[in-house]
Amino acid sequence: MPSYAQRVAPFGTTIFTEINTLAQQYNAVNLGQGRPDFDGPQDIVDAGAEALKSGTANQYAPGPGLLSLREGVANHAGVFYNLDIDANSGVIVTAGATQGVFSSIMGLVDPGEEVIIIEPYFDSYVPGVMMAGAKPVFVPMHPPNWTFIEEELRAAFNENTRAIILNTPNNPTGRVYTREELQLIADLCIEHDVICISDEVYEHLIYEGQEHIAIASLDGMFERTVTVGSAGKTFGMTGWKIGWVYGHPELITGVWRAHQFIVFATNHPTQSAVAYAFTLGNSYYEEYRALYTRKRNLVMQVIDAGGLSAIQPQGTYFVMGDFSQIFDGNDVEFCKHLIEHVGVATIPPSAFFSPEHKHLAENHIRFAFCKSDETLEKAAEKMVKLRQ
Ligand SMILES: Cc1ncc(COP(=O)(O)O)c(C=O)c1O
Repeated sequence: MPSYAQRVAPFGTTIFTEINTLAQQYNAVNLGQGRPDFDGPQDIVDAGAEALKSGTANQYAPGPGLLSLREGVANHAGVFYNLDIDANSGVIVTAGATQGVFSSIMGLVDPGEEVIIIEPYFDSYVPGVMMAGAKPVFVPMHPPNWTFIEEELRAAFNENTRAIILNTPNNPTGRVYTREELQLIADLCIEHDVICISDEVYEHLIYEGQEHIAIASLDGMFERTVTVGSAGKTFGMTGWKIGWVYGHPELITGVWRAHQFIVFATNHPTQSAVAYAFTLGNSYYEEYRALYTRKRNLVMQVIDAGGLSAIQPQGTYFVMGDFSQIFDGNDVEFCKHLIEHVGVATIPPSAFFSPEHKHLAENHIRFAFCKSDETLEKAAEKMVKLRQ
């Protein structure tokens, strides 16, 4: 019997699937996957329902995406980052940020080239780089503050480096990169003529005193950066799988050439709804941030209830809890213990590191707090068991 390709042989099952299965088996409160357990804003849902019923959105959307949505993305980049994006030639609507990153890699990186990936990373980056026949080169952020070391980053760049993939605000650490950190990355990209694939899906989830800086807005970076966003993360609709990539038309041409033969076009009715969502303006983003600031405070109580320690996240809806004071074992063992004996599911963050750097995260677990207040309160009650 024929078997699968060598290309996918190393991938295995994602950790999210494994944890979800175990969480279901033990009926655990699930703070694992970054999947909200409450609905997104009703008016955006209504816009999707209207599009479905209108009779104008049930056939293929234009390949690069609905113009109204591409205009929404371009306008947003102008308002928030002062970037001048051409909606026609500088934006592609994708099937979520996952496919946005994948199409970017396929459209911008050649086989044999090196792609620097800052760890911990979103789990689709490495398979994407490998499927492109390129070589991932890892640069870790270090605990407890989850910062990278300048010498390690500098050493990763060489004449074979084609691209760097970064993610700020960062899943799973909750870090928001500072201007100085981004400037260092930018200086190295410019010095080595490297492309930056910037995953900014949590751009609006930033907390007190933090500023999200789009690396494309730094001098000399626009022409070498593609920026990836997600309606799943920005508008709370992860099930719609609508994302986007924007940037200089020269780079977006590469993304488009790959994209057209990966999906051609993405879901039409939900594109209409996301185009509507982009018209909501600043008050929407402020309410969204207020909602998640409250949930961030609740998740800190969950962590405290169990006797773990954590640095408050600067952004995203994830936080890393350090369990080294209360459990003698690694992150995978502690996650299993927590599901089976406490009834709370989290993610072992070593899954977001290359084998050589996994040890950096093995005292931590990742909590997702995109959950109802009730779910978070229930998790806090259960976590108390850890102290008994
Ligand atoms: C950093 C990061 N990038 C991309 C994604 C995927 O986004 P989408 O659902 O739009 O594909 C996620 C989802 O958790 C993420 O955390």
